[in-house]
Amino acid sequence: MTRRPLACIVLAAGKGTRMKSALPKVLHPIGGMPMLKHVLATAEALNPERIVVVVGPGMDNVAQAAAPHATVVQERQAGTGDAVAAARPLLEEFAGDVLVLYGDTPLIRAETLGSMVEARGTAADPAVVVMGMRPADPGAYGRLITGEGGLERIVEFLDASPEERALGLCNAGFMAFDGARMWGIIEGIGNANAKGEYYLTDAVEVARAKGWNCAAVEGPVEDALGVNSRAELAALEKIFQGRMRRAAMENGATLVDPDTVWFSPDTVIGRDVLVGPNVFFGPGVVVEDGAEIRAFCHFEGARIGAGAQIGPYARMRPGTVVGEGCHIGNFVELKNTVMANGSKANHLSYLGDADIGSGTNIGAGTITCNYDGFLKHRTTIGDGVFVGTHSTLVAPVTLESGSYVAAATVITRTVPADSLAVARARQENKEGWAPRFRARKLAEKAAKAAAKKG
Ligand code: UD1
Ligand code: CA
Repeated sequence: MTRRPLACIVLAAGKGTRMKSALPKVLHPIGGMPMLKHVLATAEALNPERIVVVVGPGMDNVAQAAAPHATVVQERQAGTGDAVAAARPLLEEFAGDVLVLYGDTPLIRAETLGSMVEARGTAADPAVVVMGMRPADPGAYGRLITGEGGLERIVEFLDASPEERALGLCNAGFMAFDGARMWGIIEGIGNANAKGEYYLTDAVEVARAKGWNCAAVEGPVEDALGVNSRAELAALEKIFQGRMRRAAMENGATLVDPDTVWFSPDTVIGRDVLVGPNVFFGPGVVVEDGAEIRAFCHFEGARIGAGAQIGPYARMRPGTVVGEGCHIGNFVELKNTVMANGSKANHLSYLGDADIGSGTNIGAGTITCNYDGFLKHRTTIGDGVFVGTHSTLVAPVTLESGSYVAAATVITRTVPADSLAVARARQENKEGWAPRFRARKLAEKAAKAAAKKG
């Protein structure tokens, strides 16, 4: 089936007063990503010809988040119908289907929108398709009034009669228009209602008055949940995380305690990955098949190779690539560091701006001194290197393949291949020193006690 061309309008002009925030509502994050970006990603998944975002005056940061998509400014908040009308100059000539979405309903799924677009293309040729839903508590949602000919009208809660309020089928908000008839409909919307606003929902009545059909398509309530407050933001975050956790498990990962694992929208977790409790995946993380992520690890911008073992309590920061079968243990931090296959850093280390070869062992407490207060420098470590415990590697510096570094050494120059570097004071033993020391101290203590007695 060849699909009609599609365009999307995303309404994002609302200030979100109840968020009590300097940040426009649609920029508040879910899974670390602004809500608007979630909506745009879903819209993009439908391959529309064009996406137009409606913003409020002075919302430059929203326009920036919307880029490369076009934005139009709704000059004053005169209602959802007025907001859609603001997009008209960019879509006037568009003859395909036009979907209306909202920047503050980030959980909408492409399948749900797809079913609306499908309904638009049916033989009945509805001018408007509206997503309906049946929430357990219909509350203040607009109600869909249906009859034999499909959808007849949408009535806003404030304007609804008690009988209409008793109806369970609610307006989820999303609409699909026939682009060719859309602007004639939007033009016909007035503001004679309880709020004195131009309601997009009146599109249905206007279309019917023109003799055109309208239809309702029921979808999941979850897809239509919106954010008006910080509490609702937290509630949607939970739902979003639930979706990510289920997807990871469906994909073949084991999450020992799913409720404590946090994902970003772009987290990629392979098969047979084992994720322990209390793990956080920030943006840009890939974990390859069979890796084990133990409890309390934190990841951002990192790739973890197949079969690697990370944590507990490890932190993988941006630019980290850990090879196959590597071991990264407790309280080890990697930043902008590439570690080749089979290497280990098992305890208490900071490895920043380093290239580490394969089969290398980084001893407990090893630190790369990558920053001189002005610039960052790299540490290069070859294959099969053994770095002793508590070593300090002052970058830029190179440890060539097969070399050894003695424990507690400070490395400031190249360690040649297959050599041992030791840089610390030589040990001196004073035989019989301890009894002499103890005798002297006991005598001092006794003298002090005698002096006090008097
Ligand atoms: C809207 C529907 C209601 C439906 C509900 C579902 C209308 C008139 N009512 O009500 O039937 O049950 O959604 O959640 O459409 N916006 C603008 N410019 C404006 C007004 C709104 O951009 O002038 C944006 C808001 O930022 C928001 C969205 O449009 O993202 C919806 O507006 P809102 O005022 O929240 O509508 P509801 O009262 O929730
Ligand atoms: Ca709303």
